[in-house]
Amino acid sequence: MKQTVKTLEKMKAEGRKISQLTCYDYTTASIMDRAGVDMILVGDSLAMTMQGYNDTLPITLDEMIIYGRSVARACKNAFVVVDLPFMSYQISKEQALESAGRIMKEATGVNAVKIEGGVNIAPQIKAITDAGIPVVAHIGMTPQSVNAFGGFKVQGKGDANAERVLKDALAVQEAGAFAVTLECIPPRLAELITKKLHIITIGIGAGSKCDGQVLVYQDMLAMGGDFCPKFVKRFANIGQDMENAFSEYKKAVSEGTFPEEKHTYTDGDCSDEFIKTHS
Ligand code: KIV
Repeated sequence: MKQTVKTLEKMKAEGRKISQLTCYDYTTASIMDRAGVDMILVGDSLAMTMQGYNDTLPITLDEMIIYGRSVARACKNAFVVVDLPFMSYQISKEQALESAGRIMKEATGVNAVKIEGGVNIAPQIKAITDAGIPVVAHIGMTPQSVNAFGGFKVQGKGDANAERVLKDALAVQEAGAFAVTLECIPPRLAELITKKLHIITIGIGAGSKCDGQVLVYQDMLAMGGDFCPKFVKRFANIGQDMENAFSEYKKAVSEGTFPEEKHTYTDGDCSDEFIKTHS
């Protein structure tokens, strides 16, 4: 069954946890969709995981649309969210609405947009939701502000900072977001926010008490090398499996053991005479 804002809200109301993963391509999204993942996020983290940048800032709206389109095509059941990239919404609410509108029109099948920021970005969230586009907000450690934070650091530590994150949570709910991502904040703060809000909370590095969880898929499949943030659980070692398969393939090709006869089209092959004439 296709997940919608309503079915996800029902999951929260019934205390059923919501699963979300990032994804950026059709093949992987098809696998996640078959596995029953509730929400898929085409995150701007693709600047790092797919394009090799050090942060999420370089990715453009045009690129987000291309990746979003590929993922949405695969999702028969999962609810698809696409990130508004850096500088596609900060300038004004008009700019934010135009960018969100482009995602919804050009990446057919996408169900919502995600936008980073709290109190400061509430007018943008209101403009987008007023146009009938569902919004997932994103507060706490918002990666597009990495330079202001001085790195990818836990936010909301201590009462004064916790108060700021709480105010952000209340502001995005008031502005009309139907869900909010809580990234890298202390677990008691995430639990408090989850209890205070009526909208869905999705945690990443925010403890177990949120309504749902999200992970970057390359992190949970151990595809990104040795670095593993504290909040990531590696559910499989696909990176190593891929490396093994690639090196076995290289060996088989160089030793001539691949392809074998069973991988070869023999039916209708040219005659001995043809070979003789053209040799
Ligand atoms: O871009 C992204 O992948 C995200 C998640 C980390 C929540 O925003």
